[in-house]
Amino acid sequence: MVKASVTVSADFVLSDIDRRIFGNFIEQMGRQVYGGIWEPGHPTADEHGFRHDVIELVRELGVTIVRYPGGNILSGYNWKDGIGPREQRPRTLDLSRYVIETHKIGTNEFIDWCKVVGTEPMLAINLESQGFQSALDYVEYCNHKGGSKWSDLRIEHGYAEPHKVKVWCLGNEPDGWWQIGAHSAETYGRLAAETAKAIKWIDPDTQLTLAPSAARGMPHYGEWERIVLEDAFDYVDFICPHMYFKNDHNDTAEYLAWADQMDGYIKEIVAMCDAVAGKRRSTKRIMVSFDEWNIGARWPIEEKKAPRGKWPERLPLIEESYTVEDMLLIGGAMQALLNNADRVKVACFAQLVNCIAPIMTVDGGPAWRQTIFWPLSLASKYGHGQVLRQVVDSPSYSAKTWHDVPYLLSTVMHDASTGQTVVIAANRHLAEEMDLTVNLKGLGASRGVVETHELANPDLKAVNSVDHPDNIVPRKLDSVSVDGEVLKAKLKPASWNVIAIR
Ligand code: AHR
Repeated sequence: MVKASVTVSADFVLSDIDRRIFGNFIEQMGRQVYGGIWEPGHPTADEHGFRHDVIELVRELGVTIVRYPGGNILSGYNWKDGIGPREQRPRTLDLSRYVIETHKIGTNEFIDWCKVVGTEPMLAINLESQGFQSALDYVEYCNHKGGSKWSDLRIEHGYAEPHKVKVWCLGNEPDGWWQIGAHSAETYGRLAAETAKAIKWIDPDTQLTLAPSAARGMPHYGEWERIVLEDAFDYVDFICPHMYFKNDHNDTAEYLAWADQMDGYIKEIVAMCDAVAGKRRSTKRIMVSFDEWNIGARWPIEEKKAPRGKWPERLPLIEESYTVEDMLLIGGAMQALLNNADRVKVACFAQLVNCIAPIMTVDGGPAWRQTIFWPLSLASKYGHGQVLRQVVDSPSYSAKTWHDVPYLLSTVMHDASTGQTVVIAANRHLAEEMDLTVNLKGLGASRGVVETHELANPDLKAVNSVDHPDNIVPRKLDSVSVDGEVLKAKLKPASWNVIAIR
């Protein structure tokens, strides 16, 4: 039995939770849009062709903001192809995946879909091959009230009111050799700064994200950030890292420590932003919009693109199936975001439907939840109010690339408006139960335990599937007691748990 404890106090608050931390990402790829969110003729489709079985699951997932349209498609994407009468929209080559993009769904339909779901749209601007003027036209089209060339075109397209899109991404992984028109830090920093400056002249309410290195492993990591931040610091609000976890050695202990790597990455990138602030003697703080995060790299290369020369119109891509250990890691990574809520204000799980996604669909058939759906939906359901500072006492283990990994990964949140305190506690010991004590100073429970959820299964490779969609679902955690300000629980080995008390 592992023994671990957490101590928090009602007075020691880390940060308010920005609910946009429970965001997601829809890339125009594979069966995500065509067959995922949009399938005219599907039994649950509405008059727009939006699948309502998917919409119900997206609502249950608790998605607060959705980034669109990419991702890698972005550096070849012209937003002007995806507006206006559908029958007049061009067929274009998507060079990121060697497929044809028909533009049957574009910006306005995406925003319609967000309205039906009840979520906030977030748009990405192609700063790689379209550049400055196209970016300004896009913001004018979406956000200007009317009486100008691009805003009047939106009105002509049937949208009298501006879309008021708040968060805009300045490019996507612009340093990646895999992009059309990849940038050097110098060219990107300058372009991002000038574009951001002018976007804020069009709409001062926008919030803009600046791209760091595409990954922490890029050779120019650190130097890229310094250069682009020094150029664009005054005009942007967020830095927007991406991170994809790997289990190359089939080593669960190592794999689950990716949550700690993500935590370290957030702190590292925040330090780079603050170093630039310090150099300028500025009190401004750049926040984090973690624009893409998930498990990656299990995709065979042939699943990432269509075979050369075929140019299919519709192609299933990266339809990954997720296991119990994936679910535990996604829960841990969600905690890394919450435990840095003072700096992480937006985060987009990548992605939403069918492509590396928590929600899967069958053409003409059902939609269902993968294992990773559960920690994401539970975090969003219980992630209200404030994250508290914690003092954690837990034995730890050493993984191959990340050392001193505490078996206990905890997050404590308190919502003063409802009086609810929520403890998320993962036991990362793979063989032993955990005896957990949580000292809740000033947060004693008068009504005791309200709800509990346990995610665990002895078979770490178990999955959900269309035939067995409820193989892995949350169960009640019975071993919880609250006595005044002390909460005690026994957590199964390899488990992720949510405990709510009032
Ligand atoms: O999410 C899949 C891809 O990963 C995205 O298109 C890209 O931005 C990232 O490299």
